[in-house]
Amino acid sequence: MLLNQQFLFTPGPTPIPERVQLAMNQPMIGHRSQAFSHLLEDVSQKLMPIFGSKDPVLLLTGSGTSALETAAANVIEENDHVVVIVTGAFGDRFANICEAFGANVHRLTIEWGKICEPEQLEDFLNSLDYDIKAVFATYCETSTGVINPIKELGEITKRIAHSLFIVDGVSCIGAVAVDMESWNIDILVSGSQKALMLPPGLAFIALNENAKRVIQSCNTKRFYLDLNRYLASYENDKSTPFTPAVSLISGALEVCHMIEEEGLEQVISRHQLLKRMMREGLKAIELLTFVADEYASPTVTAVCPGNDMANPIKKLLQEKYSITIAGGQKQLKGQIFRIGHMGYCTPFDILKVLSALEMSLHDLDGRNVFGKAIKAAEEAWKQYV
Ligand SMILES: Cc1ncc(COP(=O)(O)O)c(C=O)c1O
Repeated sequence: MLLNQQFLFTPGPTPIPERVQLAMNQPMIGHRSQAFSHLLEDVSQKLMPIFGSKDPVLLLTGSGTSALETAAANVIEENDHVVVIVTGAFGDRFANICEAFGANVHRLTIEWGKICEPEQLEDFLNSLDYDIKAVFATYCETSTGVINPIKELGEITKRIAHSLFIVDGVSCIGAVAVDMESWNIDILVSGSQKALMLPPGLAFIALNENAKRVIQSCNTKRFYLDLNRYLASYENDKSTPFTPAVSLISGALEVCHMIEEEGLEQVISRHQLLKRMMREGLKAIELLTFVADEYASPTVTAVCPGNDMANPIKKLLQEKYSITIAGGQKQLKGQIFRIGHMGYCTPFDILKVLSALEMSLHDLDGRNVFGKAIKAAEEAWKQYV
């Protein structure tokens, strides 16, 4: 083994393509320069199809949670009623953030591992007798690996609550389809270190006119995260109100070029293939996936191996095979492990993890499943090409 060759399969951060790394190593430019304005405008516009947005995408410096907080801080006023769909740890975080801004939060809590079915939201909204300011949802719930039916949830939000629909797309934007207008999404946020193939540190916010009106009239105290400042700076001279993470934005331009070159449609179908290969491989070696196929995210797969094997497998992958994966969060700690397969990830990468899993099972309990997961994954790949 090459001891210094590490393989990163966490559901964020994710591997960075070399050309993106190089783009981030360019000499620094001033953030009040023409060169930076051109860079920002270019990136904000090239991100539009990736976010399914009709408007340029705003860039803030901060992790994904800063994007969630920005969405809440610019919309929620004390005592507003909001609905948060909680399908796991990140939906729960969205609800906690809304509470921190003084909202009356109505949590629609779903069993972990399941999606929010459209009828569940419909019944929940019908059961509430309040003026709802916004419905918050998580597109890919990274803690369980489900992908929520955002299009259907958006339609119900508009039809019943007539409110804003705000979506956390942190762990899937750049790997999945989305169309803000026809899916009724008013604010869509994401972060850099997942399918967008960048280091952590950039937050992305796409928003429509509807959202802008609410944000303009929102009286909640905020400063760094005040979207009005970002909108004004962008409109005035294609700048940001505060010093931005210039290098990450240079990297983001290269990411946009890569997505354009591969083609967004192809990027999306590559992620579907990665998901299928992973799931077929796991099934072939009888490792149970936490989520049913029809709910499964194309960017992250949660596995429950049983017999307290989740942590030993994770540890062995790290120590013997230099593969980093993630464990379970909150109540799933020790019960599942999670494999990220988003962004700079190819079918061969899936074979790599599956092969290490086959070896680990043998190491841990003598199970001989050599080649089984690989074969199943290759067959899934073959059907695709
Ligand atoms: C769906 C989702 N939302 C929000 C976050 C929070 O992002 P960060 O850790 O960058 O603050 C994450 C991170 O894993 C996530 O997966």
